[in-house]
Amino acid sequence: PGCSCVFLQAEECEEEFNWLLKEEVHAVLKQLQDVLKEASRRFSMPSPGMESQLKQENFILGSSTMDQVKGVLTLQGEALTQADINLKVAKSSQALHFQFREDKQWKLQQIQDARNHVNQALQLLSSRDDSYRFKTGAEVNKLMDAVMLQLTRARNRLTTPASMTLSELATSGLMKMFSPPMPGDVMVNFYINLSKLCLTVYQLHTLPPNTTKNFKPAGSSVLHNPGAILTSVLSLCSELNTNRFEVSHVHKVECVVPWLNDTLVFFTISLQLCQQLKDKISVFSSFWNYRPF
Ligand SMILES: *[C@@H]1O[C@H](CO)[C@@H](O)[C@H](O)[C@H]1NC(C)=O
Ligand SMILES: *[C@@H]1O[C@H](CO)[C@@H](O)[C@H](O)[C@H]1NC(C)=O
Ligand SMILES: *[C@@H]1O[C@H](CO)[C@@H](O)[C@H](O)[C@H]1NC(C)=O
Repeated sequence: PGCSCVFLQAEECEEEFNWLLKEEVHAVLKQLQDVLKEASRRFSMPSPGMESQLKQENFILGSSTMDQVKGVLTLQGEALTQADINLKVAKSSQALHFQFREDKQWKLQQIQDARNHVNQALQLLSSRDDSYRFKTGAEVNKLMDAVMLQLTRARNRLTTPASMTLSELATSGLMKMFSPPMPGDVMVNFYINLSKLCLTVYQLHTLPPNTTKNFKPAGSSVLHNPGAILTSVLSLCSELNTNRFEVSHVHKVECVVPWLNDTLVFFTISLQLCQQLKDKISVFSSFWNYRPF
């Protein structure tokens, strides 16, 4: 089983291809389901002894290059349930301390989306149980393509954080999560990058109205650099008041979430299994295509 058709007679080859469709495809589907169930389990790990509750995990934020931002993040499945952040403001020796309000938690959309794509891949696989008889290689390829699309999307969600403009960050619901409230000249953003949970803190300062700087507001980006401009228009007593802020400092801190690393490894293994099955089918297809009748 599994050897190339090139060296086989037509009947033997047909026999082998039927064996592939009947037996081996189902063995691979079973293997894929096992790996993806492990991945899915990582996204919703229950607390020991409290099976209805998801495990809460604390992560200490760190950076090798700076200590202006320190903190602890509490993650429960896809939700950040607490963020305890200490910020040492430049030009002041004072440290600011922020926490999530008791009534608030922040859903990490990237984790939620990745989990949904894994579950869709699992549904595709379970729609073809052992009793299902695949009739053609094309049919298997079609299923593999659909599963691979979901897995690629799941992986991309974890490797590609959302780009945002500074004005989107300023008006994001995240800014209303904290107690005490974030001051107007500090903005934060959370995102997943591969197996890391990242926090970015931006400090801004107001530009004087007569400054000769280029006022073009910054476009969308995952990470904005110092010098990026935020324009906010305030309407005060029917007079429009334009304020311009400039990013003066950017602090990026992160922590590794080991189970996100596991899921990325499982995605890679699953994508390889899908590709290997497609490769086997293509060996047979090329044989049929060259048959001299
Ligand atoms: C994401 O991680 C990669 C690899 O560690 C790194 O090169 C990249 O700068 C990170 N991107 C962001 C936006 O954090
Ligand atoms: C802007 O105005 C301030 C006083 O309001 C002045 O000190 C400063 O020199 C001005 N800057 C420019 C670039 O004209
Ligand atoms: C991620 O998982 C792989 C395979 O289990 C392991 O080799 C690697 O060290 C892990 N990386 C991190 C950052 O945990």
